[in-house]
Amino acid sequence: MCGIVGYTGERFASRILLDSLSRLEYRGYDSSGIALLTETNMQVIRARGKLRELSKKLEGEMTDARAGIGHTRWATHGVPSEKNAHPQLDPFGRVAVVHNGIIENWEDLRQQYGQGLFSSDTDTEVLAHMLVGGLDAGLDLVEAVQLILSKARGAYSFLAVDSQQPDRLVGARVGNAGGLVIGISEDESIVASDVSALLPYSQEFIFLESNEIVDIRPSVVEIFSSDGERKIRSPERLSLDPVTAAKGTYKHFMLKEIHEQPETLLNGMRGRYSGTSETIDLSSELNHERFSIENLKEINRCLIVGMGTSMHAAMIGRHYLEQFARIPTEVDNSAEFRYRRPLLDEKTLVISVTQSGETVDTLAAMEEAQRAGCPQITLSNSVGSQTTRLADSTIMLHAGPEIAVASTKTMIASVIALHGLSLFLGKQRGLLQPEVEQEQVHQALLLPAAVSNVLNFTDEIDKLAEKYSASNNFLFLGRGLGYPVALEGALKLKEVSYIHAEGYSAGEMKHGPIALIDDQMPTLAICTQGDVHDKMRSNIQQIRARGGAVIALVSEGDSSMDAIATDTLIVPDIDPILSPIPAVVALQLFSYGIATRRGADVDQPRNLAKTVTVE
Ligand code: AGP
Repeated sequence: MCGIVGYTGERFASRILLDSLSRLEYRGYDSSGIALLTETNMQVIRARGKLRELSKKLEGEMTDARAGIGHTRWATHGVPSEKNAHPQLDPFGRVAVVHNGIIENWEDLRQQYGQGLFSSDTDTEVLAHMLVGGLDAGLDLVEAVQLILSKARGAYSFLAVDSQQPDRLVGARVGNAGGLVIGISEDESIVASDVSALLPYSQEFIFLESNEIVDIRPSVVEIFSSDGERKIRSPERLSLDPVTAAKGTYKHFMLKEIHEQPETLLNGMRGRYSGTSETIDLSSELNHERFSIENLKEINRCLIVGMGTSMHAAMIGRHYLEQFARIPTEVDNSAEFRYRRPLLDEKTLVISVTQSGETVDTLAAMEEAQRAGCPQITLSNSVGSQTTRLADSTIMLHAGPEIAVASTKTMIASVIALHGLSLFLGKQRGLLQPEVEQEQVHQALLLPAAVSNVLNFTDEIDKLAEKYSASNNFLFLGRGLGYPVALEGALKLKEVSYIHAEGYSAGEMKHGPIALIDDQMPTLAICTQGDVHDKMRSNIQQIRARGGAVIALVSEGDSSMDAIATDTLIVPDIDPILSPIPAVVALQLFSYGIATRRGADVDQPRNLAKTVTVE
């Protein structure tokens, strides 16, 4: 969950490192640090808090350094503090290490390989001790890294520098705790946890695989296996746009990203949904051998895995797969899935949903599926991410950079991708009627306008946010497709505003949660689903009878809740199967409105990181 960067070349390292770190701050932001090297000196500067604290400390320091490493931290071992910030050093100050992930046996390693006193509570510091021990014993830097890889258990990646070899960086990656990507340019090399940090500096990248070591000098990058065997790797060329990541005139990235959703939907449907023929086509994105018509007919089960918001998108996708592709579908939380010894075979299609493509639990679930020979599709927003390398096929979300920690547009992009995939699979399996395909494509193409309408209601939603912003507890209820919407509404509210919010299936309400209802516990009831509408009405009446306030989220033109709900939140009336999309957008605005009123750090909520690369 931490972000790591490194640079060696002709330019001023501190500026480049800071700039790259600012692009990785979404991975962690409780402390940061940098190690800068000149021919004669290594200086390490660390600060608690956000990156701006480090910037202040760095002003005027080591401006002549042409190499260095940097880190932005999300604490796992040791509280956020200056002493626990990275880089971590050996006791003699010769080497410095920045690290992401967890060294599981760090306590044992401290006993065995400590070179003196430890000055932090981190699992990282022992890596610096091990490195210097190796160098003192006459090993080369790469050999010393090999020693670490043979002893340190866990999933991690790290970068290190040796003050006696000031233009050289070494790094390694073990398992799936976040990658290491090396950007190649003439006379300089830059490396980071992910490609987004490198975009202004390079368009050619080498992605380090698990159990690989990288040895980086300004104009030479060498890759080795953990046994020290040299590997030949050609850089991949990616053209990505750093400019779209800017906040523009919006107060927060979250608000900007909410407002981008009509375009996100268009980008997600472009080239897949045809407005002229009203047909769907994803054939160019699916591996033809793995997903031939014959193979797809053989599939007898689908499993969608994901975490958090991506799992909620998956729960909506389950309805689509069962309805349009007629495949029995389960959704699993990736973290639970991997530990329950799931029954899988090559007739189970595994679909992973992950905007980052780096979520450690989702990667582990995919590895489990790979071992069982399951065909796999991943939905990801990150070109070159780990899941895209593991899956047989990738459906890119095309949502553009999502900087706010809370997922908004990537969820909507995941839902539309699952809708398209379900229609396409149904068609390939010969189970989707052409008129259903036509109607669904037609309805989906109305979504960008529907979401724009929700955004036009921002003032109304904001008034509701104002009214309820003092509440400290919230219940979100929904049935059918409204259930994952309720879960997502609750998750968004708690992560950005720190309000305690529970999402429940409305049918579950009487089995416990109703005990919570009183005049201090408002409920947001998702009432857009026609087939469960009457049941939601009953739920609302039961809550009102117990003194609870209810905001009913209803489709435009539905006045049936006016008399019983305390307030209504109106979204455009669209095909019920697609209604989660505008409903989720309305709830994003509601959470944003409450969070800003409570003064929360909307884009970087406390304790969270955008990409969860540790268990
Ligand atoms: C959503 O707002 C959260 N930040 C979180 O639940 C997120 O959806 C989850 O960590 C999964 O991330 P992924 O899509 O990158 O796999």
